[in-house]
Amino acid sequence: MPGLAVFGAQWGDEGKGRIVDFLAQDADIVVRYQGGNNAGHTVETGGRVYKLHLVPSGVLLNKVCVIGNGVVVDPKSLLDELDELRQGGVKADKLFISDRAHVVMPYHRALDALEEAALGAGEIGTTGRGIGPCYVDKFDRAGIRVCDLIDKDDFAKKLKAALEKKNAIITKIYGGAPLSFDKIYAEYCGYAERIAHMAADTSLMVYDALKADKKVLFEGAQGTLLDVDFGTYPYVTSSHPLPSGAAPGVGIGPNMIDKVIGVAKAYTTRVGKGPFVTELLDDMGERIRQKGHEFGATTGRARRCGWLDLVILRYAVRVGGADSLAVTRMDTLGGIGDVKVCEAYQIGGKRVENFPASLEDIAKAQPVYLDFPGWTDDISHIREFEDLPEAARKYIELIEIVCGAPVTMIGVGPAREQCIVREKAF
Ligand code: GDP
Ligand code: IMO
Ligand code: MG
Repeated sequence: MPGLAVFGAQWGDEGKGRIVDFLAQDADIVVRYQGGNNAGHTVETGGRVYKLHLVPSGVLLNKVCVIGNGVVVDPKSLLDELDELRQGGVKADKLFISDRAHVVMPYHRALDALEEAALGAGEIGTTGRGIGPCYVDKFDRAGIRVCDLIDKDDFAKKLKAALEKKNAIITKIYGGAPLSFDKIYAEYCGYAERIAHMAADTSLMVYDALKADKKVLFEGAQGTLLDVDFGTYPYVTSSHPLPSGAAPGVGIGPNMIDKVIGVAKAYTTRVGKGPFVTELLDDMGERIRQKGHEFGATTGRARRCGWLDLVILRYAVRVGGADSLAVTRMDTLGGIGDVKVCEAYQIGGKRVENFPASLEDIAKAQPVYLDFPGWTDDISHIREFEDLPEAARKYIELIEIVCGAPVTMIGVGPAREQCIVREKAF
């Protein structure tokens, strides 16, 4: 049962999309298990750049793609994404959506904006896509699933009940304008007609495929430090990006995931609010941002940049059960001069090696850095580990020693082929 899960080991945007696209070359099915269109997964191939939000990154190779039940689906965003892919010559005709996946409704987006505005300076810095409010409804047992949406009568009943409550919150608590039932009903019935043929029992599909020894790739969105349990709570997303989230997010047993790869950038970035121990607020942070074009794939916001934090990576390897790591953007660090790597935190005079739960502790933490000579060479053409400059090899080896996991893939550029593969994943 060759099930391989790929997850983010930092705060998202590690390059999961490009790694999944690469691995998808050997896969039969690619499955997203959580998150929604808050994700932005960039894949570069054939001289073109694709930004995927809900569609799994196997689509460019015309693989069977599945949006699992753990994903929250904004149907308009999904249909727009499919239209755009097709206009760009991508077939995208083997996409299946779990009939159990929850649907992002206009009141989820409205509440996301109103809740953030009410938090003022304490805002989370969400993507504004209604993701948190949609997951809240799921766990409140008040959500609308894909199977509910495509049954017009059932949808009318569920929407009426939900909207009554949401409009009371929107108007009475936030002083906002109520949303119209008729408008939402008509709009979403239109979406239902366009997505109904893709709705399926995808848990069964994936189970059957694994039983038949097909290669299934589970694609995580966001990352370890955005996980609702293991991230920098409350500055997190509302799902489980960790690969253990793939079992309930797809509807398979955990024993069907037999390999896990964590993806990390050679440095650290974060979008949105919350503590960031190795953040660089100086010229170096700006240099990394400019050299790496570190602006969000979904919202276009400038990403906060900092040195590689091995406290985070070691934590991600442990709580994510990573068998190995893929380290992207080694080329971005090339040529920026000497680099630093954080190997521990200093909190209140104590050395701390395990990522703390308390936000106060994280905010107080001082990074303990190791200094590293940089590598000036352009490494984007290199395809063998042995051909990397010595300093870059030492950098990778340090990650392996401190995190206790081998680095089996190394990104040296954004294009599909700009990758060093030290061990085949499937
Ligand atoms: P994801 O959300 O984890 O899929 O990552 P994003 O797509 O949001 O951000 C990663 C960015 O880094 C994208 O612009 C990728 O094209 C780019 N990228 C990924 N790997 C590499 C690499 O090895 N080198 C360079 N230069 N860019 C990379
Ligand atoms: P990918 O899959 C980076 C961040 C937001 C915010 C927090 C909560 O591309 O790595 P949300 O809209 O989810 O309620 O926002 O999570 N966030 C991401 N940051 N990459 C992502 O996805 C993200 N998805 C959400 O910026 O801080
Ligand atoms: Mg992204």
